[in-house]
Amino acid sequence: MAYGVAYDVTAVRAHFPALAEGAAHFDGPGGSQTPDVVAEAVAGTLRSAVANRGVMTAAERRADAIVTGARRAMADLLAATPQGVVFGRSMTQLTYDMARALAKEWSPGDEVVVTTLDHDANIRPWEQVARAHGVTVRRADFDPESGELSVAAVADLLTERTKVVAVTAASNLLGTRPDVAAIAERAHEAGALVYVDGVHLTPHGLIDTGALGADFYACSPYKFLGPHLGVLAADPALLERIHPDKLLPASDAVPERFELGTLPYELLAGTTAAVDFLADLVPGEGDRRTRLARSMAALEGHERAMLDRLEAGLAEIGGVRTYGAPGRSRTPTTLFTVGGVTPADTYRLLGERGVNAPASSFYALECSRRLGLGDAGAVRAGIAPYTDEQDVDRLLKGVRELAG
Ligand SMILES: Cc1ncc(COP(=O)(O)O)c(C=O)c1O
Repeated sequence: MAYGVAYDVTAVRAHFPALAEGAAHFDGPGGSQTPDVVAEAVAGTLRSAVANRGVMTAAERRADAIVTGARRAMADLLAATPQGVVFGRSMTQLTYDMARALAKEWSPGDEVVVTTLDHDANIRPWEQVARAHGVTVRRADFDPESGELSVAAVADLLTERTKVVAVTAASNLLGTRPDVAAIAERAHEAGALVYVDGVHLTPHGLIDTGALGADFYACSPYKFLGPHLGVLAADPALLERIHPDKLLPASDAVPERFELGTLPYELLAGTTAAVDFLADLVPGEGDRRTRLARSMAALEGHERAMLDRLEAGLAEIGGVRTYGAPGRSRTPTTLFTVGGVTPADTYRLLGERGVNAPASSFYALECSRRLGLGDAGAVRAGIAPYTDEQDVDRLLKGVRELAG
C-alpha cells in the first residue's frame, strides 16, 4: 500500500454512528454515511453564536472564518485556489447557474458538447440552456460494451464554435474514468472551456483539478462523507470574467458573486470536518494536502481490494451480469443484474437482508438507456471508506440466494 500505511477499516467504521443500525451500505454513490466529527461540526456551529459574515461581532467573525476555512479545505482537497471555490445547494444547481451565466456570452450557432456517459446534471442544464440561446448541442457517445468514453468520441465533435465541453470525471453507473486531461487538452486547442463533473470521482482518489485540465470542477460533499451541498472550483481569474445575475446589494467579489443568498454556515463547517476526516483516514504528518495524498492513496488500495473481492464473488454466481468492462482506472462501483429477478426486486430483497444496494438509472439516464437498461437501470454496488469484507460477503450471500 502507498507509503506503506495500512488502512484500518475497523477504526474508520467506529466513526460512523449510522453503521450501528446494522445495514451493509453499498449506496455510497448516492450519498455516503456521515462520520461523528462531521455531525459534531454541523451541530456545534448551530449551537454557537453565528451571524452573517462580518468583522464587528464574534458571531460575524465566526461565520466568516467558517466560510474561508471551508474554501481552504476544498482547495486542499481539489488542488484548487480558495478564492475560486463556490458553494451552492447542489452540483445540479451550480451547473444550471453556471450554464446560464456562461450563456450570456453565447451566440446562435455556437456549440456545446456533452456525453452520454454523464449524469443528467451535466447534460440537461447544458442542453436546455443551449436550446434557449440557439446553440447547437453535440453528444459524444461512449462504447456500451466497454463502458469507455474515448478521447476521439469527444474530440471529433469539437469545432471553432465549441464553447463548453461538459464531461464526467467518472461514471456514477459504471465507474468508468474517461481520460479527462486528454479531452481537456483537445477542447482547449479548440478554444472551449471544460466543465468536469467530479461528483462520483472525488470520494475515491486524490483530485488535482489543474492536472485534469478542468476549467470548472463540480462536486458534492455529501458523496465524500460531508453534508448535503455542492461545490464548484475554478480559477478565480476565469470567474472574474463571468457575470451571473445577482442581487444589487450582494457582493460582486469572486467567488461570492456566484453564491446566491446566505451560505449554509453549519454545512460549510461540516464540509471542512469531512475534508479533515479524509486527510486523517490513515495516520501521518504533514500539511492537509500531504495527508490527503497519503490517505486517499491508502483508501484507493482498500476500496480496490473490496471491489476485487466483490467482483470475483459476483463472477462466480450464475445469472449475474455486470455492465461495462472498465480498465484498472475506475472507481469502485459495480452495476449488475441478477437473472430472473428484476433490479427493483433485487434491491428490495437485498434490503430485506440488511444490504442496501439500490436499483435505478441513478439519473445517468442517457447512460442507462445506452446500456440497454432503459429508465429502470440496474443494481449498483458502491464501495465506500467504511466498506469491509463482511459487508461484501453479506452482499454476495444475498445475491447468491436470489440467483438460486
Ligand atoms: C456523477 C454525478 N453527478 C452529479 C450528481 C448530482 O449531484 P447533486 O445531488 O449535488 O446535484 C450526482 C448525484 O448523484 C452524481 O452522481
